[in-house]
Amino acid sequence: MNFDVLSKDYALARKEYPWPVVGFCRSLIPDQDPLVLDLGCGTGISSRQLADTGTQVVGCDISNPMLTCALRRPRRNIRYILCNTECLPFPEKSFNAVTAFASFHHCVNEKTIAEIRRVLKRNGVFFAIHKSDFGRPILEEILGRNFPSLKQAYRPVELLRQERFNTDMVEFQGHEYYSLDEFLAYVQSISYWNLISAEEKIGIIEKLQAHFAERAQLERLEHKFEVRIVVAFP
Ligand SMILES: C[S@@+](CC[C@H](N)C(=O)[O-])C[C@H]1O[C@@H](n2cnc3c(N)ncnc32)[C@H](O)[C@@H]1O
Repeated sequence: MNFDVLSKDYALARKEYPWPVVGFCRSLIPDQDPLVLDLGCGTGISSRQLADTGTQVVGCDISNPMLTCALRRPRRNIRYILCNTECLPFPEKSFNAVTAFASFHHCVNEKTIAEIRRVLKRNGVFFAIHKSDFGRPILEEILGRNFPSLKQAYRPVELLRQERFNTDMVEFQGHEYYSLDEFLAYVQSISYWNLISAEEKIGIIEKLQAHFAERAQLERLEHKFEVRIVVAFP
């Protein structure tokens, strides 16, 4: 899935992960001054949150426009690298932790998992974090048709176990608010937006405005979500 054309709306609309999620991950990273690799870091939301917990972070992504957005909000303790998760340009045993916030289902395969294992230190830990989405169900309702789910064949626990990781799973709840502009940008930042024709997009924006007007309170739409974290030890 190509994120290049989505980067502008992604940077406008996407919000931070709940801090208990980031704190939970940090608490399992076995070092006082850890180095963390954030896979598919996108516009840098998760990298910045990790950096704010006092870790050194390397954010990597395959999309130059996404990284360009990340670089607009630099942090002293974050480096960004353009690369594919299937071929990580780091020596073995470099990182105390590897994270994949909303990205593992895009890049998971045997090569990526082998690379995660290779760059993790012996006592390191990998986290695959997913927040439940609200853009796809709204688009499907408006269009009256379903998209092929990107996550249908995605079984992170099974895949990681096949590659000899020990896994655990934890869930958190969260909620966030969207203004109309943020809501419109959010729907246009989801990967399924790439699957809609230019003609259809015009009508959809109007329907999204109506959807917002019907459901928003005090000019804000509330989104309640779950965050699922798969924790994996090599
Ligand atoms: C949904 S975004 C998540 C971005 C960020 N982690 C966040 O939580 O906001 C998924 C990101 O994974 C990146 N990505 C997908 N496949 C990749 C691959 N094979 N190697 C590196 N990055 C990849 C995309 O370019 C995109 O920026």
